[in-house]
Amino acid sequence: MMAASKPVEPQSGSGLPRWQLALLVGTPIVLGVGAVYLWNRSRGKEKQGKKNGERKTPEGSASPVQGQHGATNPELENMSPLDRAQSAKNKGNKYFKAGKYDQAIQCYTDAISLCPKEQKGDLSTFYQNRAAAYEQQLKWTEVIQDCSQAVELNPCYIKALFRRAKALEKLGNKKECLEDVTAVCILEVFQNQQSMLLADKVLKQLGKEKAKEKYKNREPLMPSPQFIKSYFSSFTDDIISQPLQKGEKKDEDKDKEGEASEVTGSSGYLKAKQYMEEENYDKIISECTKEIESGGRYTAEALLLRATFYLLIGNATAAQPDLDRVINMDDASVKLRANALIKRGSMYMQQQQPQLSTQDFNMAAEIDLRNADVYHHRGQLKILLDQVEEAVGDFDECIKLRPDSALAQAQKCFALYRQAYTGNNPSQVQKAMDGFEDVIRRFPKCAEGYALYAQALTDQQQFGNADEMYDKCIELEPDNATTYVHKGLLQLQWKQDLEMGLELISKAIEIDNKCDFAYETMGTIEVQRGNLDKAIDMFNKAINLAKSEMEMAHLYSLCDAAYAQTEVAKKYGLKPPTL
Ligand SMILES: *[C@@H]1O[C@H](CO)[C@@H](O)[C@H](O)[C@H]1NC(C)=O
Ligand SMILES: *[C@@H]1O[C@H](CO)[C@@H](O)[C@H](O)[C@H]1NC(C)=O
Repeated sequence: MMAASKPVEPQSGSGLPRWQLALLVGTPIVLGVGAVYLWNRSRGKEKQGKKNGERKTPEGSASPVQGQHGATNPELENMSPLDRAQSAKNKGNKYFKAGKYDQAIQCYTDAISLCPKEQKGDLSTFYQNRAAAYEQQLKWTEVIQDCSQAVELNPCYIKALFRRAKALEKLGNKKECLEDVTAVCILEVFQNQQSMLLADKVLKQLGKEKAKEKYKNREPLMPSPQFIKSYFSSFTDDIISQPLQKGEKKDEDKDKEGEASEVTGSSGYLKAKQYMEEENYDKIISECTKEIESGGRYTAEALLLRATFYLLIGNATAAQPDLDRVINMDDASVKLRANALIKRGSMYMQQQQPQLSTQDFNMAAEIDLRNADVYHHRGQLKILLDQVEEAVGDFDECIKLRPDSALAQAQKCFALYRQAYTGNNPSQVQKAMDGFEDVIRRFPKCAEGYALYAQALTDQQQFGNADEMYDKCIELEPDNATTYVHKGLLQLQWKQDLEMGLELISKAIEIDNKCDFAYETMGTIEVQRGNLDKAIDMFNKAINLAKSEMEMAHLYSLCDAAYAQTEVAKKYGLKPPTL
């Protein structure tokens, strides 16, 4: 839920997800998820060049001419065992090319038995080729066996490692698959799309599985007070986010004086609201439950408030029935129902169900036509969905309804910037940048304005200006850890200053030890520095703080990528280049 309800903070100016943001450290960006991609350097392809011999050996393509001289029987007698093995292999390659895999396998088997044991390179090729034929027959166990033989003879044999990785994946052995494909990626210096895509796929699957298991059993976790306040401040047109009205407070006082609260059972919601003002957030869910169970007059409000806190502690399963109930209460205030729809819509977005999400937002706009929150949040959803034009339309609508909404104005600038940037339109980019200047002039107290402007400036490589904007943010909101992380990342990108970057991110953790973004970023940097154990430690901290199953899955992917690299380092002595 949060990602969509929160402003676009997790993304960089160019709309990159956070993990890519972390990769910007002087390295070109490739694709996919996971720390294995961190080292894509254009470090030349000498490594691949060296392996040329192997890389040309057939996968499907026979190399028919080589060794042809030995194909006739009379000469066979005079040939060395190796030549005879080569000749059998070449025959196998021809069968392979013709799609006759049984015969090809027989030839490769001959080649293997003919080949002198000390000819390790050749022998490994024969095994690899036989594995390729087994692969065609979908005999995964045999593929793995032969590739293992090949790898044992030639530990850095990319083709054999990759073929084994694919077979392991087919058999559902993701962990070993990941290790093989990681080795392949490192050997290929992260230049080959195919292996990178397999790594990406396996990392995502592993992450998803682990997160599903872990998320079920985790302890509910209340976010920091700063986070909660910032979350509620993104709603202005609802009831539960606002402080209690005077009348309501009096009501409560009366109850207290008459000590009737327990008896009437109507104090649950009002008490919860009071706890909210005191930032005593842990007690809110139970107070709301009292209100709901006693069927008090604030039942709808209590359901919505309880659902909101279920969402905040990351329990969408518990939130959903409450939201459903509010949405279906025809006699409840339209403001409450619209707010519940916004929250359910954001929740769906987090669960990667954009259609359901859009449906809820549209319904909210239908039932409460003049609710600025609806447009504001729908605008954010549209940005996540990359529907920038519609996002701008929604922010405009929000601004029309609430001209003093600095946040909506800043986000509109950001959307316009994104549109201009992706559309490669320099004059529109400049216009968007001017728009930001205008916003921070008119709303000098809106931290988000500076933060979004800083992201655009970073994107435009105006690092010095971006840094100034982050400083303004920090001045306005010294408790906001996220800003320090962004500023830290900026130092890396701008000056390649690791020390200063890490210092700022440490500062973020000092301010808010629940800042998962800080742990994640630090982990990514440690991976790049080659401190894999430290990186894994950081990723695990972030995993325990993840605010949704999806976020947790992403973090597991990063962690598994780092872990696979430590295994590869142990097994093959392979290490990617580090900073
Ligand atoms: C912290 O600042 C970021 C911008 O850098 C903003 O998106 C976020 O809402 C703020 N968070 C809190 C908890 O105030
Ligand atoms: C979410 O809440 C439900 C019902 O209140 C509970 O059974 C479940 O254990 C909670 N799940 C998590 C992940 O906290």
